[in-house]
Amino acid sequence: MRLVSKDLLGIEKLTREEIELILETAQKLHEIHSRDIKKVPTLRGKTVVNLFFEGSTRTRTSFEIAAKRLSADTINFSASSSSLSKSETLIDTARSIGAMLPDVIVVRHNQAGTPEMLSRMVKSSVVNAGDGAHEHPSQALLDLLTVKEKKGRFEGLKVAIVGDIAASRVARSNIYGFTKMGAEVRVAGPPTMLPPHIEQLGCKAYTNVREAVVDADVIMMLRIQMERHSKLLFPSIREYSRLYCLTPEILDLAKENAVIMHPGPINRDVEISSEIADGPYSVILEQVTNGVAVRMAILYLLAGQRSN
Ligand code: CP
Repeated sequence: MRLVSKDLLGIEKLTREEIELILETAQKLHEIHSRDIKKVPTLRGKTVVNLFFEGSTRTRTSFEIAAKRLSADTINFSASSSSLSKSETLIDTARSIGAMLPDVIVVRHNQAGTPEMLSRMVKSSVVNAGDGAHEHPSQALLDLLTVKEKKGRFEGLKVAIVGDIAASRVARSNIYGFTKMGAEVRVAGPPTMLPPHIEQLGCKAYTNVREAVVDADVIMMLRIQMERHSKLLFPSIREYSRLYCLTPEILDLAKENAVIMHPGPINRDVEISSEIADGPYSVILEQVTNGVAVRMAILYLLAGQRSN
């Protein structure tokens, strides 16, 4: 089985079977991390360009590690030292990168829809590494892999996603991903951070975090995306953390062995208490580790299985 599209632009467009294929491929590739020499020749001769117009620690580094572990050549594009600083447009920049015929372009941009626009302009496979508040598919796939490893299934799991839902591409991709895989998804946050009609995506919305986490198997806390807000959406950080920070008292309402997730970067004691972030139920660093395997799987399925 192969991915239908040449690109990975979002979870919304993937079938359940395609998600399973990516997760199974990642599980097979995971073994490479425990080898002495963490490198296989699978993508030798292929080129991956990382085109990041927004800051990133986890996504950019893990796409680069993933490409290198598969022996692809990797190029990191830095917007600040590019000809964008000489007023070149994004479209002309993208066309120029595409004209160098890389096999895969991994792109992050603060404007939703940029990866899709790029995908129509270039022959290369385009991977969305986060576009505005729209989607962050590789993050949702690594989150799904982490839950699969911890719980062994998705069907019937209760997944609570808490925080800045409206501005979060991670929330949107995970709502699509977990509901496609048969989990029950609840989202919770202040009314100003819950987009209207969010329940049309197949989740249930709450303004009270306590109601959202009752009997939850998975709790995913989100960062407040200040950079996407044009005005203050809550009275103060202190007020936000009083109502929405994941504390041991709120965690007690979830299932006993609930898995605690966060895509990072985390604001300690704002959205999640340090005690929980560093505690026995937290899988935050396992998510990061799984990010490499999932991104290897994405690059392999897009570049390794295409002939051009
Ligand atoms: N989770 C995530 O996208 O982290 P970075 O912004 O560090 O890539």
